[in-house]
Amino acid sequence: MANIDYSKRSFNYYPTDAIVFTKCIDGVWTEPEVSDNFNLNLHCFAGVFHYAPSCFEGLKAYEGADGKVRLFRPDENAKRMISSARYLDMPAPTVEMFIDLCVRCVQANWEHIPPYESGASLYLRPVLFGINPQLGIKSANDVMFAVMASAVGTYSGAKSLMPGTAVISRNYDRAATFGSGGYKLGANYAQSLHAYNLAHKLGYRELLFLDTATHTHIEEFGSSNFFAIKDNTYITPDSPSVLPSITNKSLRTVAEEFGLKVERRKIFVEELAGFEEVNSCGTAVVITPICSIDDKPTLEGTEVTRTYKIGDPEECGPISRKLYNRIVGIQKGLEEDTYHWCMFLDRK
Ligand SMILES: Cc1ncc(COP(=O)(O)O)c(C=O)c1O
Repeated sequence: MANIDYSKRSFNYYPTDAIVFTKCIDGVWTEPEVSDNFNLNLHCFAGVFHYAPSCFEGLKAYEGADGKVRLFRPDENAKRMISSARYLDMPAPTVEMFIDLCVRCVQANWEHIPPYESGASLYLRPVLFGINPQLGIKSANDVMFAVMASAVGTYSGAKSLMPGTAVISRNYDRAATFGSGGYKLGANYAQSLHAYNLAHKLGYRELLFLDTATHTHIEEFGSSNFFAIKDNTYITPDSPSVLPSITNKSLRTVAEEFGLKVERRKIFVEELAGFEEVNSCGTAVVITPICSIDDKPTLEGTEVTRTYKIGDPEECGPISRKLYNRIVGIQKGLEEDTYHWCMFLDRK
């Protein structure tokens, strides 16, 4: 859209033109509808308002340097939403339906796709939630699947790849050992919001969660995965209660391409002292370098048991930067998409 400086935008909701939705009622999906009405008409007994049968996704449409618009690995988001819906025992769209609604949503909001030069993108937020009226505790029979869009800049408005600080969450957990952390459920975020807010109020960019059972090893950040670099090795936690990040998966592939060894394993907190580079990773900004991590007994208290300093506080580590450039290069059409990760879209 003319006259909008997308480069100044943060990761936030900005109005667009249309949403796309379909419903599954009694096992049958309705024809997808494109609507400019962003206010949904829902029954107030719909399951989503009490037992939280609700999951969501996040992916981006980018205008590349070649002027072409692409989605990055939408099939992976589709598969993750299907696995979230299975966990909630509720109907899910197929991979084809998921991608079709994402494409329709981008096409319906084409004027809002930020220009390549801005570095911004059109973020898509697919949501799936229970709509049938219910009172007893039950999974949803009927669901709505909607895809909406917002043209966004970087997550925090911070300069790209500028290192930030993190704090370890010892008195709040994100996901139980045998719980739902490996799925993208709204309930997981509700569970971590309070701690997330505390960490941000204290000025930390990221909040690092540990395994719930022992609090000895690293799981992930509040809204992104953890990875570290040491001795030419890409190290990331292996745990069923960590959300399987599509960015992390892509980074692992690219790391192998660059000759790094990739390790998915338990990472003990004390290992932070020996890491050369530490990052959070996710769709929003791909990589955020982390230069300092405080270990505190409680987020509310003033005591800091230990501070881990990692790398240069002004610069992203060299290996992480190389990985970042490769992923963003593929997303923006600056590098050959050897893996066929991009799906190209027409205006319609
Ligand atoms: C808890 C959590 N972990 C990891 C990620 C990163 O996942 P992805 O790379 O698929 O965006 C996200 C963001 O979606 C998240 O909310």
